[in-house]
Amino acid sequence: MNIHVSASANARSVADASSGFARDAIAALSQSPKKLSPKYFYDAAGSELFEQITALPEYYPTRVELSILRDRAHDIRAFIPQGAALVEFGAGSTTKVRLLLDVCDFAAYVPVDISGDFLNAQAVALRRDFPALDVHPVTADFTAPFALPEAVRDLPKVGFFPGSTLGNFEPHEASAFLRTARDILGEGGQMLLGVDLEKDERVLSAAYNDAAGVTAKFNLNVLARMNRELKGNFDLECFKHRAIYNRERHRIEMHLIARKAQTVRVMGHTFTFRAGESIHTECSYKYSIARFRALAAGSGWRTQASWTDKAGMFSVHALVAEK
Ligand code: AVI
Repeated sequence: MNIHVSASANARSVADASSGFARDAIAALSQSPKKLSPKYFYDAAGSELFEQITALPEYYPTRVELSILRDRAHDIRAFIPQGAALVEFGAGSTTKVRLLLDVCDFAAYVPVDISGDFLNAQAVALRRDFPALDVHPVTADFTAPFALPEAVRDLPKVGFFPGSTLGNFEPHEASAFLRTARDILGEGGQMLLGVDLEKDERVLSAAYNDAAGVTAKFNLNVLARMNRELKGNFDLECFKHRAIYNRERHRIEMHLIARKAQTVRVMGHTFTFRAGESIHTECSYKYSIARFRALAAGSGWRTQASWTDKAGMFSVHALVAEK
């Protein structure tokens, strides 16, 4: 997660009508076309399914990003000031951050995530494995401004936002996030950011329509989550997963398509579906290096270096805050 593992990973209880999920789900299902935020994928079951996705043969982003971080360890070490605080926006599996902690001399690590329990479990493991590192978890929604711990105030700061989570934001949200991150990290702030690249549509389509059907389960889980938490009665058999590449908008779109006309109840509200009607559940934007750099430049960041794998599948960018 990042956005993912994070967003209320353990919320199992039934929500009341005023909860964010209840309000957003009712609004999402009332509009036309129906569209729900991808942040609701990540309850405990969805986070587990996402972990499974990252290991699928078709889903290259996690593997390729890790290979870039490994291959560029030397360049990354040269980019990172000694004794800096590493601020990770969202806290998922610690594999990538451990790689950075192994090769660079960070004085402190500040994982920021909305799920405090998850953060604390992660902090315990990192303190054990990196005894010289000060770990200061911050429980916060990392897309909104938050204060860094006093203990890292005087250290150089490096943000870390791997996994192409930026791609799940609409371009204006991505820009707003980059501006907020710049304000949080302050003058002289730096950032390492992973971004998925545009490529052959067949490769993209396979990555989001895997043969084992894990992405389909991940997508459908949001309906199961509405059943569990929002007193919903979706019949999961009556919806199918669809992921398509929207070439004009450079994004994979995930949809849940009604297999037949039906009515569904959520939090006491009734919603009707036509056969073939979709709930748009996710956008995953793909960038070119130039388009990403332009986005960063328009959001207060200069790109010092952009690293890719040999096949140009994925990119990691080293950013420096503009004055
Ligand atoms: C977390 N995020 C970057 C993933 C992506 O590729 O957009 C989420 C995902 N959706 C389907 N598969 C993976």
